[in-house]
Parts: sequence; C-alpha cells; structure tokens
Amino acid sequence: MSAMKKKTAWTTTKLRALKGKEKIVCLTAYDYSTAKLVDEAGVHLIMVGDSLSMTMLGHESTIPVTMEDMIHHTRAVVRGVDRALVVTDMPFLSYQASVSQAVENAGRILKKGRADAVKLEGGAIRKETVEMLVENGIPVMGHIGLTPQSVKEFGGYRVQGKHPRDANKLKEGSKALEEAGCFSIVLEGIPAELAGEITNSIAIPTVGIGAGPQCDGQVLVIQDLLGMFDDISPKFVKRYAEVGDAIKGAVEAYAADVQRGDFPGPEHCY
Ligand code: KIV
Repeated sequence: MSAMKKKTAWTTTKLRALKGKEKIVCLTAYDYSTAKLVDEAGVHLIMVGDSLSMTMLGHESTIPVTMEDMIHHTRAVVRGVDRALVVTDMPFLSYQASVSQAVENAGRILKKGRADAVKLEGGAIRKETVEMLVENGIPVMGHIGLTPQSVKEFGGYRVQGKHPRDANKLKEGSKALEEAGCFSIVLEGIPAELAGEITNSIAIPTVGIGAGPQCDGQVLVIQDLLGMFDDISPKFVKRYAEVGDAIKGAVEAYAADVQRGDFPGPEHCY
C-alpha cells in the first residue's frame, strides 16, 4: 500500500461524538483481504484483537501471542483499510511491567504496525499507563470485565461483575479509564444491566461483547460472526453466515473435480 492510500475517515474524536446518537459497529480482522471487505462494508472500527492468538495462530488462549505477531497482522490489516479506525491489542505482558514498557510497545504498534490506536486490558490499575500513553499522543481504548488475558486468574471464561463488590470495581475502573483519557472502553462478559449503568455513567462510548444491548456499540470476532471458528462458542455470539461449511463444501467439490479429471477444463488451459 502506498503511504497515500489510507485516508482514515473515522478518528477517535468522531467516534466519541457518536455516543448517544448512533451505535458504533466494530469487528475484528487480522489480514488484508478480510480487513478490506470489512472496511468496504462500512464498520466504524476494526480491532486487530489478540484473539488472533486463537483464530489465526491456533493457540489455546491470548497469552502466547507476541508483539511481533500483533505488528505483523496489524500491517496487513492497515493495507486493506481506507475508512475504519484500526485499533490493535497490546499483547499479554507488553504493558503490565512498567509505564515505560507500555509507551515503548504502544509506540511500536503505531510506528511499525501503523495502527491508529491501541487497546489494553484492566481498570483502575491502568490509570497511570493510559495517562502516559495519551500524554504521548497514543490513543487508547480500555477493556474491562472478562478480560481474556486474565483467564488464568479468573479460573476460566466466566462472566464478571455479578457480585456487588466486583460490579463496583468495574464501575470505578471505567471512571478511572475515562479520567485517564481513553477514547472508548470495551465491556466484555458482564451482566447487561451493569453494562447499561456503566454506559450511562461515563461520557466516552462503551463497546460491548457479551455485555448486552445498552452499550454504545458492539464488537464480535469476525470468525464467530461468519461461522468459521468452533473451538470456543460463547453464548453472546450470533452467526450471520456459515462460511466454514461453504469453505469445506467448495474444497470437497474441488477435490472431486481434480480426482475425476474435470478440473482444469479446456477453458482453464493455455
Ligand atoms: O481480542 C479481541 O478480539 C478482543 C475483542 C473482540 C474485544 O479483545
């Protein structure tokens, strides 16, 4: 892609302004051709989620994915995108050790990956990190609730914030992230009512995944939406297509054609 191609129509400022007016549509993408289609379909925000650890690389969780993996996939996505805001996840242990580690790695995601913003997991504990990133010109999306990088600490993919003490911690976390300068916050795997309370209590947009309809926007993993990934299938997923079946059917038809000698036909020959 030439440096001229990308004319990001959606900025963090424009997305913030959608709160209360229009729902924000987000999807993940991890490669050039999918990102191009998703962008052409008109989504506001494309996430290069660390879920690529599972969907693209076949790991069991988001823990093993590296900075190099995230930058590699971000570069491919950015080449396919003209309008959507591209937000890349900071992988596990690329920002937790210190604020300077976070600034350095987030900077690499913007400089080498050419993402528009980064996303990181955690509430009040991330306040200082987010402040420093924003202060240094790096837009940040927060992510609280069932944060997958903490799956070992949670003891599995469990809905968070069911108990009043945990719900309060999430409310405090959303306030802290807003004060620190996040332009938006992902709410994952929390009760719909709590997500509604958080959404109504902050001025920046919330984007839900397994957090009910009251969030300011929604995000899904593209493979889940397309019916291409069955390793994990959470209750919150809605499948809009059965692309996995379509791929298998097409490959079986191709294999049968090759074995019968029906492909290539005269029209495919030079
Ligand atoms: O990694 C991911 O894909 C995500 C979202 C879907 C929220 O964090």
